[in-house]
Amino acid sequence: MSTQIREIDNYFSFKPELLPLGVQSPCEIFVQEDGEYKVLIKQGEHFSLEIKNNLKEKNITNLFVSIHNKKVFQDFLLEFKPKEYFDSLLDRYTINNESYYKIEKECIDPEIPINFCLYLHDGKSFNLLLDASEENPKNISEDKLSEGDILISKKDLNRYNEYLQKLIKEGKTETKILKETTKLILRDIYSEPINRKNLMILGDKIDEIINYGTLESKVLENFLIMKKLDNYNYVHSLNVMTLSLSLGLKIKLDKEDLRLLGIASALHDIGKTKISPLILSKLGKLTEKEFQIFKTHVIESVKIAKELGLPEKVIEGIAHHHEKLNGNGYPFKLKSEKISFFGKIIAIADAYEMLTTPKAMKYALTPYNALLILVQDKGCYDKALLETFIKMLGRLI
Ligand SMILES: [Fe+2]
Repeated sequence: MSTQIREIDNYFSFKPELLPLGVQSPCEIFVQEDGEYKVLIKQGEHFSLEIKNNLKEKNITNLFVSIHNKKVFQDFLLEFKPKEYFDSLLDRYTINNESYYKIEKECIDPEIPINFCLYLHDGKSFNLLLDASEENPKNISEDKLSEGDILISKKDLNRYNEYLQKLIKEGKTETKILKETTKLILRDIYSEPINRKNLMILGDKIDEIINYGTLESKVLENFLIMKKLDNYNYVHSLNVMTLSLSLGLKIKLDKEDLRLLGIASALHDIGKTKISPLILSKLGKLTEKEFQIFKTHVIESVKIAKELGLPEKVIEGIAHHHEKLNGNGYPFKLKSEKISFFGKIIAIADAYEMLTTPKAMKYALTPYNALLILVQDKGCYDKALLETFIKMLGRLI
């Protein structure tokens, strides 16, 4: 193995399981040993069983590719391991064939016993951190949670949710818990067919956020800070919902309207669940045909909202979230006066959220630059709403 040392920021990591066996690598693959990046597989070489076993023996769980080769490498994975690649985009952990869910470690309270196991993934290894169960609940001290990602088994998601509910009952209604519980609901909604039960839970959650009262100050700030690098569709929806509700609160919508706006903004992209993941996760520009398919997510969202019997205001908000005031939006190419009020709010929140979220190949814009783009996109967004939105986010810039 030849040695090459490069800046850590010039690499991105992935799991060895993602590499297809016996296929020529499109670029150099590196391994990190003793703090150095060493070439493991040269461009054109195969990932062999021997190399795989060698990695296992050394307990190496992360491989690296130079950031310059990211697109080449992702195209390669998309071709040979589409499902695994898609899962990796979703930040899912699959270890020994079991699925794990990354939890927000700030939501673990050292004083409240946990009745499920916690695992630690520090980027190199995966270990059992807390061996707890229903019969044997345990507490965990803060210092043990400091390094790496904290994971739980997917089968313990309900228990985790119950744990969060317990925290809320104990009066610990901090933003992080509110966000984590809302995230779990949206996760369900975006991963299974939506039904009335989870819709009702979503409605309750929105009420809870509205009633929390200080949405436009602390909650908003913390929700956005906690955004990090999540790639999930539902996290995008959660952020759009937060931004829409914050704007709704700022312009003093009444409680009922806020609730409906919350539902519309949370479900605005629900139709994406009907679009092929290959299109949704494609790197680079979509072809004209792919873009036509992508655009159908609006109609699909509307269909789902209608099936759920949601009020007209919600349906309109969902239907108009990609319309532009100058008539250049889609799917209806509506002009200003025809676009619903909720549609105008969600369009701003959605556009801002997209611009400030890092994509596979693009860096996220800073809030300042994202807002600047919205302002420069003359004739696209409602001027008064955009001005309020900018003032509202002013503190974050
Ligand atoms: Fe959308």
